Amino acid sequence: MSFVITTPLYYVNDKPHLGSVYTTIICDSISRYKRLIGEDVIFITGVDEHGLKIQRTANEKGIEPKIHCDEISEIFNINWKNWDISYDKFIRTSSINHELVVNEFYERVKESDDIYMGVQKGWYCVGCEEFKDNPDNSATYKCPIHQKNLEWKNEENLFFRLSKYQKQIEKIINEPSFIEPIERKNEIINFVSRGLKDFSISRTNVSWGIPVPDHNNHTFYVWFDALLGYVSAISSDTKEHSLEKSIIGGWPADIHLIGKDILRFHAVYWPAMLISAGMKVPKKVFGHGFLTREGQKMGKSLGNVLDPDLLLSKYGNDPVRWYLIKDISLGNDGDFQDKRFVDIINNDLANTIGNLLNRTSSMSRKWFDNKVPDNEKISSENKLKQLAKISVENYHEKFNKYKLDLAANEVLNLAINTNLYLNDNQPWLLIKEKDNLPIVKEIIYNVLESTRIIGLLLLPLLPELSSKIDSQLGSLYKKEIRWDQQLKWGLLISNSSLPKPSPVINKLEYE
Ligand code: MSP
Repeated sequence: MSFVITTPLYYVNDKPHLGSVYTTIICDSISRYKRLIGEDVIFITGVDEHGLKIQRTANEKGIEPKIHCDEISEIFNINWKNWDISYDKFIRTSSINHELVVNEFYERVKESDDIYMGVQKGWYCVGCEEFKDNPDNSATYKCPIHQKNLEWKNEENLFFRLSKYQKQIEKIINEPSFIEPIERKNEIINFVSRGLKDFSISRTNVSWGIPVPDHNNHTFYVWFDALLGYVSAISSDTKEHSLEKSIIGGWPADIHLIGKDILRFHAVYWPAMLISAGMKVPKKVFGHGFLTREGQKMGKSLGNVLDPDLLLSKYGNDPVRWYLIKDISLGNDGDFQDKRFVDIINNDLANTIGNLLNRTSSMSRKWFDNKVPDNEKISSENKLKQLAKISVENYHEKFNKYKLDLAANEVLNLAINTNLYLNDNQPWLLIKEKDNLPIVKEIIYNVLESTRIIGLLLLPLLPELSSKIDSQLGSLYKKEIRWDQQLKWGLLISNSSLPKPSPVINKLEYE
């Protein structure tokens, strides 16, 4: 059985923004962790290409939607490669294979008698691709998310009988682990308790969409089509997709990681659609918070959008990952602050982890002929060994609960404690007495061993830094042995060579 994790399928109206980078980094970190503990992982990402929003964006550029989508999809693809995202499947909803799945799914939903023709009237946000409440029913009311006027729609659409699934959805959303975090779960429970209304699944004014087979002038509503992207992505057969092949491929998903604004689609509409088609519902929907910049919502009109490409080229992958993973508790909103970013990277990565590695490796090389000391007490108990054991246990526990910030903090705390151990023991004073040599060997060995474990624990979080730490310790990590088994104390080999240290992380300057 595979562990299936998905990012949202991103709209291709623009290149990736910091929000999409955030979700994708978190999914990447979870995927890496699961693979390292021996699970078979299918990490799905991709793009949501249809709908009015994309059609208009292409029109504004004066090009065909397909050409626009090809361009932006490629940018997403390249972008994830630049961020070293370890995805397994990249789905484009404009692909013919996806269309096959959507049509097959539609037939199943029709067989369940869940589709009927009706009239859809209401206020629509093209940015959200969603009908919205308009409190004063006025044409000047703006969508709180996109700050754009809503548009009045009145057209004949096909509807999905969501109301029929009220009881089943109530049961699913109340299951203990289906929606996380708890605050989001309560929002959804509230929404569902007001009574589910059928929703429209086709459009007559949007040509850029998948044609509805039995209704000539209708295309599928972009959300009906997009959610199915998760299913088509997972097909066991890469050439010919079908619902059956997706089930063989590993459906249902274990976790959909998404932003809080699209939770309703994932936790309410989507499960009902799946039940209607006789398919299993995802095991978990996790709604993360929103990122702001210096306390303000990011937006083009405010001119404060933080370009992830610039961050990557300026600082590299690891610092950005560390900030996003460690400083934001998954589920809460997070703020990107320039000064805080510099402080965190310098304190945590450069001064605490980088410096620990650098100074210990230098001492060991100087006193023990460029090698790890031979420690006669490798298997006996010591304070650092106990601390490392507890940190490793806590780290696994946090990771398994998707508390990545706390897992990252466990690594940092182990580094802080290792620095303290070094400072308390002062091997630089002890080495002056020849009789102290065995104890100095033991201290340096312990600190290097703890640093090795810190480096390994960083592997799912900061793959680049982790591998740099490993090379500085003599490339000890063995891909053929399971990673979590290498987190045991005492695997650092006495007398093994230590390469010349060089900084593994650069200190940042304030702008
Ligand atoms: N295409 C839909 C998803 C379909 S999934 C079958 C969509 N795309 S999106 O590109 O607009 O948004 C993608 C994700 O970015 C959403 O999860 C959204 O919550 C998230 N974010 C948008 N702005 C964000 C922030 N400022 N901060 C964090 N995430 C944010 O919705």
